[in-house]
Amino acid sequence: MSADPDLTLDDLTPILFGHAAFQYLNAGCELGLFALLAREPDLTRENVRDGLGLADRAVDVLLLGTTSLRLTTRVEGRYRNAPVIDQLVREGRWENFANVVAFEAHIVYEGQADFVESLRDNTNVGLRRIRGTGRDLYHRFAENPHLERVFYRYMRSWSELANPLLLQKVDFGRVKKVLDVGGGDAVNAIALAGEHPHLEVTVLEIPATGPIARRRIADSGLSDRVSVHECDIFRDPFPTGADCVLFSHQLVIWEPEQNVELLRRAHEALPPGGQTVIFSSISDDDGDGPLMAALDSVYFAALPAEGGMIYAWRQYEEWLREAGFTRIHRLPCAAWTPHGIIAATK
Ligand SMILES: C[S@@+](CC[C@H](N)C(=O)[O-])C[C@H]1O[C@@H](n2cnc3c(N)ncnc32)[C@H](O)[C@@H]1O
Repeated sequence: MSADPDLTLDDLTPILFGHAAFQYLNAGCELGLFALLAREPDLTRENVRDGLGLADRAVDVLLLGTTSLRLTTRVEGRYRNAPVIDQLVREGRWENFANVVAFEAHIVYEGQADFVESLRDNTNVGLRRIRGTGRDLYHRFAENPHLERVFYRYMRSWSELANPLLLQKVDFGRVKKVLDVGGGDAVNAIALAGEHPHLEVTVLEIPATGPIARRRIADSGLSDRVSVHECDIFRDPFPTGADCVLFSHQLVIWEPEQNVELLRRAHEALPPGGQTVIFSSISDDDGDGPLMAALDSVYFAALPAEGGMIYAWRQYEEWLREAGFTRIHRLPCAAWTPHGIIAATK
């Protein structure tokens, strides 16, 4: 049982108006408020109005919201960013964060309106909000180039924010070749190969995303060791010859039976002693947190594919055992996001 104090009426406010709170965060990003205040702190309301080119009422609404939410502060009539926003800017992580906000605004937001129906029907009803006929969100990006750009900017940013944990926690020193299953634009493949000069990485991706990954790999100068294999990870056999299979932000998308199937495919492709590494947000075994895992699960239940969520550690462990893996290890990561790593051996 949780030891947290009981919810109050005041605690209900940011939940009741959670969608509105997000709109202020997004508006502050898209209208350039946070960027302006990062460049020029301590601006008056009039400075902000003129700097953003907004009308009087509009700047009043914006600053009322961002200041009430503590995204900005006002001291003696002058506005600044919250210290945490300026810290992200100083650390060079603001653009990554803003790319996540844009993904929530332009892809996640609308689909989440179908959350109730998605739970009722136990399927991703929110996909109907994305134009096209592809069988899941990823297969619809080719029909929606703007959303494809928003998605891969976000995915790269989310992975860049988190993958230092993967590099720190997993010893790739003795690994020769990694299969990066559904590796996106190769963000993690490039990070791994960049960190370990002996390592080869093959990204498995759908044909529509292959060229996006190839461009990134060419830009990174790692085309000699990082390659792309266009395939359908559910229908085509995994290439053999790798001694490590990485699932990064991948098994959150699918239903449990599909995850067992993907892990079986990894098991089949690996030699004895080969490793599977799962890197993802993970929820607690007792099913009541962390908060970000719960909130992010709305998207995975409503939008990308028939049924995913931020699964619990024990679920991954069960599926790995079912697929034939042994020596299953948890590598918890203390971070802002609920990322964790599970490594297992064939
Ligand atoms: C959530 S993204 C994760 C990307 C990357 N692993 C990362 O951590 O940044 C999932 C990726 O899986 C790919 N994917 C989805 N279904 C696939 C399929 N059937 N075959 C191959 N790749 C697939 C998508 O195109 C997408 O790039």
